[in-house]
Amino acid sequence: MNNIEKLRSEILAQIAQASDLKALDAVRVAALGKSGSVSALMKTLGTMNPDERKTQGPLLNALKDEVTSHIAARESVLQESALVAQLAQESVDITLPARPQQNGTIHPISQTINELVRIFAAMGFTIAQGPDIEDDWHNFTALNFPPGHPAREMQDTFFLKDGGHLLRTHTSSVQIRYMEQNKPPIRTICFGRTYRSDWDMTHTPMFHQMECLMIDTNVTMAHLKGCLQDFVRAFFGIADLPVRFRPSFFPFVEPGAEVDIGYIKNGDAIALGRAANPADQKWMEVLGAGMVHPNVLKNCGIDPDVFQGFAFGTGLERLAMLKYGIPDLRTFFESDVRWLGHYGFSPLDAAA
Ligand code: PHE
Repeated sequence: MNNIEKLRSEILAQIAQASDLKALDAVRVAALGKSGSVSALMKTLGTMNPDERKTQGPLLNALKDEVTSHIAARESVLQESALVAQLAQESVDITLPARPQQNGTIHPISQTINELVRIFAAMGFTIAQGPDIEDDWHNFTALNFPPGHPAREMQDTFFLKDGGHLLRTHTSSVQIRYMEQNKPPIRTICFGRTYRSDWDMTHTPMFHQMECLMIDTNVTMAHLKGCLQDFVRAFFGIADLPVRFRPSFFPFVEPGAEVDIGYIKNGDAIALGRAANPADQKWMEVLGAGMVHPNVLKNCGIDPDVFQGFAFGTGLERLAMLKYGIPDLRTFFESDVRWLGHYGFSPLDAAA
């Protein structure tokens, strides 16, 4: 076997044995690299006489080509097996059960707010906001609670130690803030936290209210009744839900009313709606309402001889409990994920 033959079989054997791309590259460098064995042989061509070169030249070139093509072929085999090995290692077992997914839910209060926004936006109301920490003027005085008026005591107010501030006892304070900043015509609603020092089955020290305010040049009690009736019927989804107004007192409205909706008692269960027999009709209070008192308008720089309007306020937990059958108010604020999972709403549910 001549030199070329020997070298050829050695290199081809090394190529065949290269077990990975790194080993194959080492073989390539050793054969075809600058000081590789094949390259060294090629260099000897220059020292040969023409006859020798004529016979050796084609042989060496053929050797070089053969080594090159064997390396390329081996390379693609090794690349493929490297890919197969990688895929095998990264494979996913699709028969495994899916990991349990923890979905968050929309709190019933947020859901209720979303539903109310829809109803009132359709009636042309905007959304107003005010601070939780209020001063006496916005929570009481401007709302026609004179200093020392007994109605101030009805609200179990949390006073701040600074002597000047308190936690708002109702969202009616936002009426004042809104009318100080905006002049009629006014159609606005407000949602927010309110605070009273109270704690039992039906009272928590923090709860949510919605306030509604409409002021224009010829607003009457009929507008108030129509607006309220449409709102509760749309909210509860009961087209003939009975609505009743009872005279009541709030310093900031005149006349003032409490608003009841009708329900029927079925053993221990209650169902909102109209009783077939009027004698079976029961009522529950859901709202305070009335025509804005002229003093309140004056306190906000609005002329009561030109403008009038109505206001009402309601508790959001109460509305949510009635609509969604939630029995205990306190559970709203316990942040129990089981409760939230049960009573919460999917983020993708459209507001009803
Ligand atoms: N602010 C009153 C309350 O908290 C509700 C109310 C609002 C009454 C607007 C009349 C008008 O009880």
